[in-house]
Amino acid sequence: MTSNDHGHFDDAASTWDDDPAKIERARATAQVLRDALHLKGTESVLEVGGGTGQLSLALADDVASVIVTDASAGMVEVARRNIDAAALGDRFGAEQLDLVSNTPPREKFDGVWTQLALHHVQEIDKLLERIRGLLVPGGWLAVVDLDDDREGAFHAHYDDFDGHHGFDRDAFAERLRRSGFHDVTVTDAGSVEKELGGDDQGRGTFGMFLAVGRA
Ligand SMILES: C[S@@+](CC[C@H](N)C(=O)[O-])C[C@H]1O[C@@H](n2cnc3c(N)ncnc32)[C@H](O)[C@@H]1O
Repeated sequence: MTSNDHGHFDDAASTWDDDPAKIERARATAQVLRDALHLKGTESVLEVGGGTGQLSLALADDVASVIVTDASAGMVEVARRNIDAAALGDRFGAEQLDLVSNTPPREKFDGVWTQLALHHVQEIDKLLERIRGLLVPGGWLAVVDLDDDREGAFHAHYDDFDGHHGFDRDAFAERLRRSGFHDVTVTDAGSVEKELGGDDQGRGTFGMFLAVGRA
């Protein structure tokens, strides 16, 4: 992530939740995670690149505690407000954290989840290793992200985008294994609809996958 990305997400934070599609996506991904992870309600979770916290808020009844982290101060501010508004301050928190450049917390977590954030991170192998270091033995990482978009259509509107144009599923699974995760699975996780860049190009549908690995 570059300083431009920080600015982009800081600017977007205050109106992020005004888009009903984003709230609906968080709900849909929450169901995908429920189905895949068989949560017990006792888990401590860290969310990476959690934005305004909608995914974790949608899973509030399924786990014991969540720390929503994001590199963007603007996003973290909105996530804190959302946590307060949902009266979840006793179990939820929001922290500004970029695991690539900041020191990871000492605390260990039962699980880490993340939605549509990893494609913004250039040093993804470093991030995955750091996430693994945050997990208790047997803890899980659940990544929901964009399928391979090699034409770059998803980010065509986005000036100076320097992340990944989605991920090939097999290559992503291999990255997880290389970073020390085992029992890696990759399954469908729905899709994102988005306006395409340029004039009159209409909307596009972009597939998402869920990758789960164990520490
Ligand atoms: C497309 S948004 C997704 C936000 C949220 N997960 C959602 O689905 O609504 C990507 C998020 O990842 C965050 N992000 C990008 N690079 C990051 C990094 N290196 N560490 C933490 N967060 C990062 C951005 O600030 C932004 O909030």
